[in-house]
Amino acid sequence: MLQEILLKATREAAGIMQKHFNGSFKVSSKKTINDLVTEVDKLSEEAIFRIIREQYPDHYILSEEAGELQQDSEYKWIIDPIDGTVNYAHGIPVCCVSIAVEKDGEMLMGAVYNPFLDELFFAEKGKGATLNGQKISVSTNDSLDSAFLVTGFPYQWEDMGNHPLQAFERFVKAGLPVRRMGSAAIDLCWVACGKFDGFWEHNLNAWDSAAGYLIVEEAGGKVTDFKGNIYSPYQKRLVATNGLIHEALLSAIHQA
Ligand code: IPD
Ligand code: CA
Ligand code: CA
Repeated sequence: MLQEILLKATREAAGIMQKHFNGSFKVSSKKTINDLVTEVDKLSEEAIFRIIREQYPDHYILSEEAGELQQDSEYKWIIDPIDGTVNYAHGIPVCCVSIAVEKDGEMLMGAVYNPFLDELFFAEKGKGATLNGQKISVSTNDSLDSAFLVTGFPYQWEDMGNHPLQAFERFVKAGLPVRRMGSAAIDLCWVACGKFDGFWEHNLNAWDSAAGYLIVEEAGGKVTDFKGNIYSPYQKRLVATNGLIHEALLSAIHQA
C-alpha cells in the first residue's frame, strides 16, 4: 500500500508538471533572486499532500515549499515537488518529482519521476532499484581518469569558500567530462542507472537527495559524505558513485 501511494503521488505530481510545462505560471524568488519557486511547485506539493493524507493522515511530512508538518509517527515523507525548478521555469525538461519515505529513521522507499523523459526510478530498501520497472545497476568503470561526472552548485553560496568551484575546476582542467544538469535527484538516478560514474555536491537538502541516494545504493552504488562516512540526507555534502571510483573521487575532492 505504501508503494502504491508513493507512486500514485509521484505520478500525479509529474502530471501537473507536464500540464503546465512552458505555460504561463507565476515564478517567485525565495532567499536569493535565482532560488525560484513556481506556482506549479505549489500545485504539485498540494497534490502530493492530498494523496498522502487521504491514506495516511497521521504521517510526518517534510517538504521543500511547505516545510515540516510534524506528527508523532514512525513514517516520514520527504518531498521535493519539483527538483530542478530553475530548469522547469525556463522550459528545460531536466526536472522531476522526488518523494521518499523514511521509517524509524531509515530510508525505506524512494521514487523519482521525470515525466518529460518518462523515466520513473524506484527503490525499496533491500529490494534493488528499477527504471520503469526494469532492474538497474551502476556503471562498471573503475578509473576516475575516464569517469563521466556530474555536480551541482547551490543558489545560495553561504560560507562555502571556493570549494565547490575548486573541485569542478580540477576535473575540468584534467579534461574530464563534468556536467551540471540542475536536478540533484536526476543526477543521482543517472548514477544509479550507469549513465554517470559519479556525482558530488556541497550543499543539498534532504528533499533533494532522500529518494535518489536510496536508488543509488539499491542499484549497487555507494553514497557517503565527503569524509567517506555513511550518508544521511540531513547533512549537506554528498558523494555518490558506482563504488569503484569512490575513494578516488573523494580524494580528488579533498585535494582540490
Ligand atoms: C536544486 C537542484 C540543483 C542543485 C541545487 C538544488 P531545486 O533543487 O537539485 O541541481 O544543484 O542545490 O537546490 O531548487 O530545483 O528543487
Ligand atoms: Ca531540489
Ligand atoms: Ca524543489
